[in-house]
Amino acid sequence: MKQPKIKTKLPGPKASKLIDEDNAFMSPSYTRTYPLVVDKAKGVWVQDVDGNEFLDFTAGIAVCSTGHCHPRVVRTIKEQAENLLHMAGTDFYYVPQISLAKKLSSLFPDGTNHKVYFGCTGAEAVEAAFKLARQHTKRELNIAFFGSFHGRTMGALSLTASKTIQKKNYNPLVPGITHVPYGYCYRCPYDHSYPQCGAECAHWIEDTLFRTTMPPEEVAAIFVEPIQGEGGCVVPPPEFHRALSNIAKKYGILLVADEVQSGMGRTGKMFAMEHFGVVPDIVTLAKGIASGLPLGAMIARAEIMDWEAGSHSSTFGGNPVSCQAALTTIQLIEEELMANVNVQGQHLLNGLNALQGVYECMGDVRGKGLMVGVEFVKDRKTKERATEWRDEIIMKAFQKGLLLLGCGENSIRFSPPLTVTSDEVDVCVSILDEAIKEVAG
Ligand SMILES: Cc1ncc(COP(=O)(O)O)c(C=O)c1O
Repeated sequence: MKQPKIKTKLPGPKASKLIDEDNAFMSPSYTRTYPLVVDKAKGVWVQDVDGNEFLDFTAGIAVCSTGHCHPRVVRTIKEQAENLLHMAGTDFYYVPQISLAKKLSSLFPDGTNHKVYFGCTGAEAVEAAFKLARQHTKRELNIAFFGSFHGRTMGALSLTASKTIQKKNYNPLVPGITHVPYGYCYRCPYDHSYPQCGAECAHWIEDTLFRTTMPPEEVAAIFVEPIQGEGGCVVPPPEFHRALSNIAKKYGILLVADEVQSGMGRTGKMFAMEHFGVVPDIVTLAKGIASGLPLGAMIARAEIMDWEAGSHSSTFGGNPVSCQAALTTIQLIEEELMANVNVQGQHLLNGLNALQGVYECMGDVRGKGLMVGVEFVKDRKTKERATEWRDEIIMKAFQKGLLLLGCGENSIRFSPPLTVTSDEVDVCVSILDEAIKEVAG
């Protein structure tokens, strides 16, 4: 079984020098959790500039869905790069953009015709959804959720409610957005327990908000992540999204599913909303869509995407190389990866659940497919957040050759490439076991 290989102290000599240069020339706004300076990567393995080899359970924040540098994706990129690098899909037509839009439209289970707007990032996809919702409904108010992350451009940031630092000094943001509690059963905002609660977290919008402060006929859209990623890998109760969808339909509000992190097969279905039996009005995608090339997409039913020429566009959106990489990515997901996600996701959950039986500090283990999180607590009864332990566990794992990232205030997320094998899951769980034992065992 292949294991990580750590040959130098971390960071090694080359990495240390490069980090000094980075500190001198790069924006200090980035959040580097540990000193990893990447040289190259293949599959789920990442090599740093000093020759150390790491097992990657981050996939570059859930982006390298087909694994680092999948040979078929690399081939497709090379072929496309020989033909056409850019021609501004906003002003001209070309085949990869049309083919990808057609393919994305076909992925919707309701069989209706969908249209696609392409940008380069998740924030751009959300920004486009935000603008389209206003254009289409001519309404000004919007609903989003506490714990949500929708991106960092001013519109997307206005919808985001994840960490104060992300908003500090940027006010005033876009007005008219009301944040409401998400379906977070482990820390139920109403102190109820599931299923007796009847998914009050969703019904509160209609029962309280619409009766007191927010006229529903003025609401353009509800923006929601099917599973909150950055907010802590939070899976809402099964009825949550269906209830939201019913409320949205009743008042002519658009339901926007932000699938930037949860989409493209990561949860074992093409879109995570499929787990909840809901077809949203608008879907935003990015991250895993093109295996690492920059691409964002906002997809809406054709009758909703009714804005006029000139209303919105972006020079680099729908880049032909990114579109071609996305077409190959979707092919790989459909042909083989989705089945693997379901098997390995369950294997990972089994491994983490077994560890939870040993370590008190693992308060909650949750997830779908390969979008999995563990919430760390000081005490299972009080659920006091163990943020420092979480940070130390991530650092220990790094020193042992396992790449992980945090999410929420006190959770670790596991989002490996969708190509991960059972052996690689076992290596991850065994390193995590050692790391937790050393920090909080
Ligand atoms: C659900 C969700 N939406 C939007 C974004 C923003 O994507 P990007 O960083 O590509 O702008 C993210 C990024 O983490 C995300 O997780």
